[in-house]
Amino acid sequence: MSTNESSSYRASSLGLDLHLELPARPGGRTLASALRDAVRKGRLPAGSRVPSTRALAADLGISRGTVTRAHELLAAEGYLVVRQGSPTTVATGPFDEPKPTGIPATRRGTELRWDLLPGKPDLSMFPRQDWTAAQHRALRAVPAGELDYGNPCGHPALRTALTEYLGRVRGVHTTPEQVVVCEGHHRALAVLSAVLRQRGTRSVDYEDPALPKLRGIPRAEGLEVRAVPVDAEGIDVTGIESPAVVVTPAHQYPLGSTMSARRRKALCEAAASEQRLVVEDDYDGEFRFDREPVGALQRLAPRNVVYAGTTSKALAPGLRLSWLVLPPGLVGPVWEVKAHADRNPPVFDQLTLAEMLRSGSYDQHVRRCRAVYRRRRKQLVSAIRESDTRHELYPAGIAAGLHLTLRLDPDGPSEERMLKRMRRHSVALEGLAEHWIDERRRQDGLVIGYAAPPGHSFGNSLRALLRGLSEPRGRGSTRQP
Ligand SMILES: Cc1ncc(COP(=O)(O)O)c(C=O)c1O
Repeated sequence: MSTNESSSYRASSLGLDLHLELPARPGGRTLASALRDAVRKGRLPAGSRVPSTRALAADLGISRGTVTRAHELLAAEGYLVVRQGSPTTVATGPFDEPKPTGIPATRRGTELRWDLLPGKPDLSMFPRQDWTAAQHRALRAVPAGELDYGNPCGHPALRTALTEYLGRVRGVHTTPEQVVVCEGHHRALAVLSAVLRQRGTRSVDYEDPALPKLRGIPRAEGLEVRAVPVDAEGIDVTGIESPAVVVTPAHQYPLGSTMSARRRKALCEAAASEQRLVVEDDYDGEFRFDREPVGALQRLAPRNVVYAGTTSKALAPGLRLSWLVLPPGLVGPVWEVKAHADRNPPVFDQLTLAEMLRSGSYDQHVRRCRAVYRRRRKQLVSAIRESDTRHELYPAGIAAGLHLTLRLDPDGPSEERMLKRMRRHSVALEGLAEHWIDERRRQDGLVIGYAAPPGHSFGNSLRALLRGLSEPRGRGSTRQP
C-alpha cells in the first residue's frame, strides 16, 4: 500500500488501524520507530498481536527482511516479544517510565548472542504439548479437595510416581513416604542445611570444585563449607571430616568425571561406619551417552545417603520442581522445616509431572533430549579437536550431561583472556576457576553448555565458540594474567 509521503497504515491481515506515520518504502529503522511510537502511545496495547512480517512486508511493498529487522530491534529493546512459531506480540510496559534499578539480570551472559551457558537444557524442546495434555488429564481426574495447599512434602501422586521412576531409571531404593518434593534443588539444599543446623551440625564438606551458587547455600544457613579435593575417581574420602558431605557422583560438577566403583564403595562404607550423611546431587543422571548410566549411590547406603534430583535439566529450570529421597529418620525434621517456612510445592504442577511420569511422556522426552545432546557433544568435541587453536585444549570428563569442561593449556592464553575473547564474539559460557573453593587448587578452563542453544542456532553458536578459541595472535593469544 503506502506509496504516499506519509500514511496511516491499516494492517489488512488483522484489521487493525495502527496509524503508523510512514514514508514510502520505509527502511527497518523507520518502521521500527513508527511501531515503537504506536506501542508507546498505546495504539498497540500490551499483549496484542503485531501483523506478521509477511503481511506487513506485502502491505508496505518492502522486503520481509526489513520488517524482520524492525521486529528484532524492537524485541531487543523490550517492546515486542518474538517467539519462534508464535505470533509476535507487544510486550508488557510501561515503556516510558523509569525502570526499577538494583535488580540484576537473572544470569550473567544472557545479553550475549550465542548461549552456551552451562546447566541449561534446550528450552525450545520443552514438551509443551505433552505437558498441556498431562495437565488436562490430571485436572480432569483430581478431586476438588486436593487443590488445597497440599502437603509441604509433596502430593502423594507425585511421590508415588517418583518412587517408581527413580527405582526404574536410577536404581533408587525408596517408598513414597521418603520422597519429598521441593521447589528446585537450591531450595532442597537450603532445607537440608536448616535441618542439619537444627541438629547441631556446624560444617558441611563439599567437593572442590563445585558450583559457587550451590555451595553458598549451606553457608547462608550458617554452616561452614569445607573443601575436599576431587581427583579422577571422585571425592577424596579420607579428606571428609564433617557430619555431612555433598557430592555429584554420576557426573562431577563441573569437571564431568564419574565416581569410580571403588570410591563409591569407600564413601558409603565410611558414611555408615562414621554416621555421616551423604547428599547425592544427581542433577543430570539421565543423560549418559556412551553406556547405561551408573545407578544412584543411594542404593548402596539408603540409611546414609540423601538422593537429590531435579526437573531443571530434563524439563526446564523455570518449573522449580525437584525431589529428595531421605533416610526414614530425616522425613520428620524435613517436614517440620518445610511446614514452618510455608513451602508447599505447587499442587497443579506436581499433578502434571506425576501424570507425565505415569504416562511415559517424561521418559520419551528424556530420550529425545538425550539423542540431541549426545549428537551435540560429539560435534563439539570433534570440532574442538580439529580446531586450529595453536594451544592444546583438553575436553575433560565422560560423555554425559549438558556441559563440557575444557581445560586450558598452561602455556596458552589464561581463562580471563579467553572469557574476554568469548564476550567479544558474543558467546555466553562460564569460566572454571571460580568453581574452586581452595584458591591453591585453582585451574583455568571453560565450562561450555552445549545443551543451551535452540537447535537452529547450535551450529552458529559452535562456530562462534571456535572463532573465539582460535582467535589469531595479536588479539590476546599470548599468556597474560
Ligand atoms: C550441580 C547442580 N546441581 C543441581 C542443580 C539443579 O538446581 P535446581 O533444581 O535448583 O535448578 C544444578 C543446576 O544448575 C546444578 O548445576
